[in-house]
Amino acid sequence: MIPAIINQGGGKWAFENLAYILSESLWVDIQEDFGDLNYILCVDNDEINKIASFIPIDSIKIAADKRKIEERFNAFGVPRPRTIIPSNAKEIEAILSENDQLKWILKYPTGCGAINHRFIENVSQIPKGWPKPFLLQEFIELQRPEVYRLYCVDGEIFGFNARRFKDKNIKNPWVAHAQGAIYEYGESPDKEAVEVATKALISTGLYYSFGIVDLLKSQDKKWYALEVGTDGIYNYVDRDIENETLINEINERLAKAFWKRIGSPPWGINWKYRNQKYSTNLLDSGCASIDIKDGRS
Ligand SMILES: Nc1ncnc2c1ncn2[C@@H]1O[C@H](COP(=O)(O)OP(=O)(O)O)[C@@H](O)[C@H]1O
Ligand SMILES: [Mg+2]
Repeated sequence: MIPAIINQGGGKWAFENLAYILSESLWVDIQEDFGDLNYILCVDNDEINKIASFIPIDSIKIAADKRKIEERFNAFGVPRPRTIIPSNAKEIEAILSENDQLKWILKYPTGCGAINHRFIENVSQIPKGWPKPFLLQEFIELQRPEVYRLYCVDGEIFGFNARRFKDKNIKNPWVAHAQGAIYEYGESPDKEAVEVATKALISTGLYYSFGIVDLLKSQDKKWYALEVGTDGIYNYVDRDIENETLINEINERLAKAFWKRIGSPPWGINWKYRNQKYSTNLLDSGCASIDIKDGRS
């Protein structure tokens, strides 16, 4: 079996650093041609569904569209903020008037980095050209805006962190690294958080390869899955996470999981990076922002 990291086509610049990191940790070369097992980054291929991908292509597509995530979360009963997918403004109007005690967000369905989400009280606030169907979600009010993340490789959940704005006075409800929030470590997930994350990853088909789950903890201590994320095509999981131990753990776990499907790994007994010259300075902020053109998802 020939393994390959695939990074090709017009958008490949956005994945170049990650491709390099992966080639060093997986001991696999970056190629234009598909192998027998592929770690897909940027790809320009209509036949993509037929390619043997470490992360299922379907799951990559689901993770890139919050409406698809909602369909899966709904089908599997994943605890999440109340979410509705209205097909037109009239339906939104009805939802807003029937549930006017709730605060609603109109979410940009294919974005990342908390760009474009907005509160909505009235259908006149829907911007022109907004992607349809819409995605409406109940806003979970928090004392201090924060979002938690769990990582998963090959059916094992690990690596808990929280993102918050360093300045406690910042009340921006959209917490994202891209908005200036920083990763914080030291807390541990409780059983319920891990259960919600596991369900979210199983529902979206990411549990057995690689995915993350973003979670909110409500003021009454309930855990909700916000979304899942993974690497490939449209986006990638942020590696600029201010924690070298966790970065190394992600890389080692990915390498072992990838080679489990191929055969004996090339690094010998203990995993290490292929070249000593590997440097985590390469890590950049993880929102590839490959803007998904309508229809591409
Ligand atoms: N339903 C919600 N209730 C409270 N805060 C939310 C909710 N949805 C999103 N947020 C906040 O907005 C941020 C970005 O939303 P998210 O759904 O993760 O989209 P993105 O793909 O832009 O990261 C989250 O990290 C969280 O801080
Ligand atoms: Mg997010």
